[in-house]
Amino acid sequence: MENITTKLLKEKFIKFFKEKNHVQIDSASLVPDNDGSVLFTTAGMHPLVPYLLGKEHPQGRRLCDYQKCVRTNDIDSVGDDSHLTFFEMLGSWSLGDYFKNEIIGYSYEFLTSKDYLNLPVDRLAVSVFAGNENSPKDEETYARWKELGIKEENIYYLGKKENGKENNWWELGEVGPCGPDSEMFYITDKKPCGKNCSPACDCGRFLEIWNDVFMGFVRKEEGKPIVPLKDKNVDTGMGLERTVCVLNGYKSVYEVDSLRPAIEILEKLSGKSYNVVEEDTKAMRIIADHLRTSTMVMGDEIATTPSNVGRGYVLRRLIRRSINFARRLNINPFDLEEVVNFYLDFFKADYTCLQNNADFVREEFRKEVKKFNNTITQGLKEFDKVVSDMTDVKINGAVAFRLYDTFGFPLELTCELAKEKGLEVNVEEYNECYKNHQEKSRTSSAGVFKGGLAGTDYGYAKYHTATHLLLAALRKHFGEGVLQRGSNITLERMRFDFSFDRKLTPEEILLIENEVNTNIQRQIPVICEEMTLDEARKRGAMGIFENKYGDKVTVYTIGDVSKEICGGPHAQNTKDLGYFKITKEESSSSGVRRIKAILTD
Ligand code: SER
Repeated sequence: MENITTKLLKEKFIKFFKEKNHVQIDSASLVPDNDGSVLFTTAGMHPLVPYLLGKEHPQGRRLCDYQKCVRTNDIDSVGDDSHLTFFEMLGSWSLGDYFKNEIIGYSYEFLTSKDYLNLPVDRLAVSVFAGNENSPKDEETYARWKELGIKEENIYYLGKKENGKENNWWELGEVGPCGPDSEMFYITDKKPCGKNCSPACDCGRFLEIWNDVFMGFVRKEEGKPIVPLKDKNVDTGMGLERTVCVLNGYKSVYEVDSLRPAIEILEKLSGKSYNVVEEDTKAMRIIADHLRTSTMVMGDEIATTPSNVGRGYVLRRLIRRSINFARRLNINPFDLEEVVNFYLDFFKADYTCLQNNADFVREEFRKEVKKFNNTITQGLKEFDKVVSDMTDVKINGAVAFRLYDTFGFPLELTCELAKEKGLEVNVEEYNECYKNHQEKSRTSSAGVFKGGLAGTDYGYAKYHTATHLLLAALRKHFGEGVLQRGSNITLERMRFDFSFDRKLTPEEILLIENEVNTNIQRQIPVICEEMTLDEARKRGAMGIFENKYGDKVTVYTIGDVSKEICGGPHAQNTKDLGYFKITKEESSSSGVRRIKAILTD
């Protein structure tokens, strides 16, 4: 078999489906737009959920794409041969168009045809749903594979769960579209592990390459039974790195072209060789994986920056973990930017947002390394002091917690340092302190509302204030005709809709950004006053002059920049907002534009 790269497999897949009258759609952002239940886009079909549930897709009923995905639930397994926190998925869909017969035909053709993957039929095995109370045994799919030429001995009926593993039933989560599936496997040279050897076992004889889901059902509420969908869909998904790995006979996913060069950079930086000492190999893999994910998350259309909550926290953890492993390899963490640069360069053709955000990504990365370095330096001093005063071999849990709480030292780092000195950490005690601390902060944040906002709540407040500055900047440059049409705030970003009838140019976006940042730098106090609606009107406050706020309204005034009626909460001074960055400008609906923006330190 020819050597196949991720680029080539992407090309082949998209070309094939285009030939079958599918339209290629763009990869969506890693930040899910319609789903607050998860932090990241976790599968190719994820952005398509509304359409799988019946909404009409503007680009038609036959679609295909490659989609960036992040899954961090298996982060502790990263470093082995197969787990990754970022991956790309090739996908194709029929939205209420064709069903089983056609997609199985297409799948067979793509896998075996000389023009595409050219796999020998004898090397292919498939699994088919064995049936349960929701959906019958899938004899139709079985017959279709057989008709196409897959040997019966290579067709396996599998249930929803076999060997404790999810098998031939696919669902995104507790609720959403779902259905039976049929998976395709490459049969390796490994001998069967026993009489019952099948694609459901982990022996390594069968390696999964593709999955056709017959998405004919939906679970509307957690714990409720599934119901059939009016229009039946097909959803197929092929893990890009994984399939390239199988097709080339690689031992690990780190051999693929979108990861291997990062390992080579790490070899150069550390002066150590990959695949010699197990610990070093694992460290290099973890860094290569985590920095790839971090680059894609920071460079996404909806950029995330390191922080202590939500997506920002996941990102911080990925970067700091990479730094910890770099330390073990004697790599200066600032030099890891070379790895970040490789990824920016490698992915920029397929994900154009990386081109626009490259400087931003590098800057955020540097800032986080610097922050963590300071933390470590201070924490190390503290650690040495603790150790020099010690009479016991066990480090007190409260001390380990203080290192965490005050210096941001992850427990795993304290444990490692302790081990180097022949000491241990009392982890149970640490966990106890952690729990107590969480309880305390919960109680105190319940009472904090009256006197002012703290922590998480202040995070929201800053974004509220940013929307006022943004609206003021838009009106200053585009006139009083610009009105707010909606806004949505999370701890990591803001979305702001306003009346305007055309796209902003890159220069205009910069102008607006600068205007907001200038007002942030002016350190203007945000004044909050209660008054009657009449009084607010007299003073020229913006806002919705309906009685919906009650007789008295709250007016927030930011110097001479903005005066708006608003429910709040708000920052106390614009300086607290940090730095304002527009990450996206797009159409929201006719005559309404949408800006997505973030605040960073
Ligand atoms: N939803 C299926 C998967 O993620 C196919 O796209 O594997």
